[in-house]
Amino acid sequence: MLKVILIAGARPNFMKVSALYEEVRKYPRKINPIVVHTGQHFDRRMSHLFFHDLNLPKPDYYLNVGSLSHAQQTAKVLERLEPVLLKENPDIVIVVGDVNSTVAAALCASKLNIPVAHVEAGLRSFDRTMPEETNRILTDAISDYLFVTEEAGVRNLLKEGVSRNKIHFVGNVMIDTLKAQQKKAAESSILKELSLQEKKYALLTLHRPSNVDNKESFLNILKILETIQKDITVIWPVHPRTDKMIDVFRLKSKISPLKNLKMIPALGYLDFLKLMADAKFVLTDSGGIQEETTILNVPCLTLRENTERPVTISMGTNVLTGQNYRKIISESRNILKGKGKKGRIPPLWDGLASQRIIAILLKNCSQPR
Ligand code: UD1
Repeated sequence: MLKVILIAGARPNFMKVSALYEEVRKYPRKINPIVVHTGQHFDRRMSHLFFHDLNLPKPDYYLNVGSLSHAQQTAKVLERLEPVLLKENPDIVIVVGDVNSTVAAALCASKLNIPVAHVEAGLRSFDRTMPEETNRILTDAISDYLFVTEEAGVRNLLKEGVSRNKIHFVGNVMIDTLKAQQKKAAESSILKELSLQEKKYALLTLHRPSNVDNKESFLNILKILETIQKDITVIWPVHPRTDKMIDVFRLKSKISPLKNLKMIPALGYLDFLKLMADAKFVLTDSGGIQEETTILNVPCLTLRENTERPVTISMGTNVLTGQNYRKIISESRNILKGKGKKGRIPPLWDGLASQRIIAILLKNCSQPR
């Protein structure tokens, strides 16, 4: 039996772990999966709803780390995961994405000489002010299996001196989950609940510290939204970090006069997927949403200066706009005139990435260490 520990910590991890868990479950005699939730994201909307929507099992271990400073959060995962790894002595630890729990779990396993697989390896924004960039670089440097979603990731890793035989271009597990859940999401009643019609609204998400933790940037984005909401209704499921900053910066009085900008609480996976699929376009600073809109063929304006997911631009529906007022308004008006960017599906984003990953692990890790 191959004992595999899957680490889940924050919201964008859950759809990736779900794809891997579904695949692992196909081998009950060969693989023993153990799910560890670090508790980086902990509340109903950021965590439980996702476990429910994605049919994920109750975690075998819950580390209850919570929201803390970067150092404290990373340290707490290290401290609380170590006894679990010592007790379970897994054959491999699988970490996904680029959040603090990812790097902490990889480091913890690596120090115990437990092989680490990083799913979504090789992505680089080349922007070290982004906390996730440090997490990506460090996680890749100590991982034994680097599972890559797009070709740029392979190039980045080779440039950093990673040996070719550790790198596996397998596609995108988040797309596996999207494809698996698309039918179920189509049945969501969220449009009805919000009195929306297909393609008659734009969808907005914001949570990057560079956009919401800086008052000037946040105000700048609100100015852009003030114009957009005059053209089309904008639905805004609000991330808890953003919610907190709206209070800190006292922005409620600036937002409430924008009658066509509709704030709603953060949503679960299925409702959000439905809203995204039926949106006229999406405005976001998320990483994963750039990829999901590409698959759904929905135009995406990314309110960032860079992206670690360049294939969403070269092949997909994504356009990087930063916070450039003119660019965002002209792009959104183009989309409203039916001239939005049309995309193609990137190589290997076919719903089979987790199959490829588990096949590689079964082949390579089954020998005793
Ligand atoms: C984290 C990830 C980021 C990812 C994002 C997705 C890191 C460095 N960042 O950022 O890469 O894109 O998750 O959501 O790992 N909060 C709650 N309930 C929760 C979780 C958070 O209320 O369940 C609030 C807390 O007030 C907290 C704030 O949100 O201070 C930010 O949470 P945190 O996990 O520190 O970072 P995110 O911005 O969510």
